[in-house]
Amino acid sequence: MTIADRYGPWALVTGASDGIGQATAHHLAAAGVHLVLVARRESALHALAGDLERSHQIQTRVVAVDLSRPTAAAEVADACAGVDVGLVVLAAGFGAAGSFLESPLATALEMISVNVSAVTALAHVMGARLVARGRGGIVVFGSILGWQGVPGQATYAATKAYVQALAEGLHSELADRGVDVVSVAPGPVHTGFGARAGMTMRSATAPDVVAAGALRKLGRGVTVVPGVQGRLLTLALAPLPRRFRTAILGRVVAGMADTASP
Ligand SMILES: NC(=O)c1ccc[n+]([C@@H]2O[C@H](COP(=O)([O-])OP(=O)(O)OC[C@H]3O[C@@H](n4cnc5c(N)ncnc54)[C@H](OP(=O)(O)O)[C@@H]3O)[C@@H](O)[C@H]2O)c1
Repeated sequence: MTIADRYGPWALVTGASDGIGQATAHHLAAAGVHLVLVARRESALHALAGDLERSHQIQTRVVAVDLSRPTAAAEVADACAGVDVGLVVLAAGFGAAGSFLESPLATALEMISVNVSAVTALAHVMGARLVARGRGGIVVFGSILGWQGVPGQATYAATKAYVQALAEGLHSELADRGVDVVSVAPGPVHTGFGARAGMTMRSATAPDVVAAGALRKLGRGVTVVPGVQGRLLTLALAPLPRRFRTAILGRVVAGMADTASP
């Protein structure tokens, strides 16, 4: 059964202008799914939309919106009016390397707005529509950093812990109402994430691998850790007490920060 057969003719993808969201849009378009593409960079979204329409004969809608604004989720939901969205991929998000007190509070609050508030609001408004139509899927993005606190990424790790917990709750709540929910928790991925976060990913998974893993797991489990790097780190860290994982991952992210000593 194709994704369109399972979930419906249209998907909403946030974070579609880059990285994992864009890779997921490519996978869905190749499967014949029409797309509502969301991010701030309108020209990147239009370029992607044109490419996908030509390559896969699908329809697209572009929604250029800043998801850190409180009204953004409602604007995205309005932009989906009249199309039968069955799959919701909430990939927009960002991180920032640096110690909590030395980093601007505004950055932490913006991160919470995009990674937590917008994901919650979109899961709420679109989840209700999926339940109303009797079936659907929601894909959210946690991180292996979300399974414990991480010095140097304290706010980001906390946002991803929230997303993981939200996904686990919604997975159970919505299963009987026809909606599959999956949390995708990658390790390092080669995308625009590193540049925005001020980090260099020396060894990382391709976004295409993450997108394929996410869509494969949807409807088959609550969490997926796609990519070799993420799985190895998870296997190595899982048996350790939480405080040791915090210390080790603090060193790992410090080594990836662009301000780290060579
Ligand atoms: N890359 C990694 O190593 C990694 C690891 C674990 C989890 N993740 C998670 O995976 C998800 C996708 O990240 P990625 O690696 O694909 O990063 P990316 O390449 O930087 O893409 C992030 C996407 O989010 C959008 N975005 C960011 N801020 C936004 C805002 N205020 N309003 C609307 N859109 C916004 C960006 O679009 P615009 O800039 O055009 O707005 C872009 O399309 C994120 O939730 C991230 O936390 C990434």
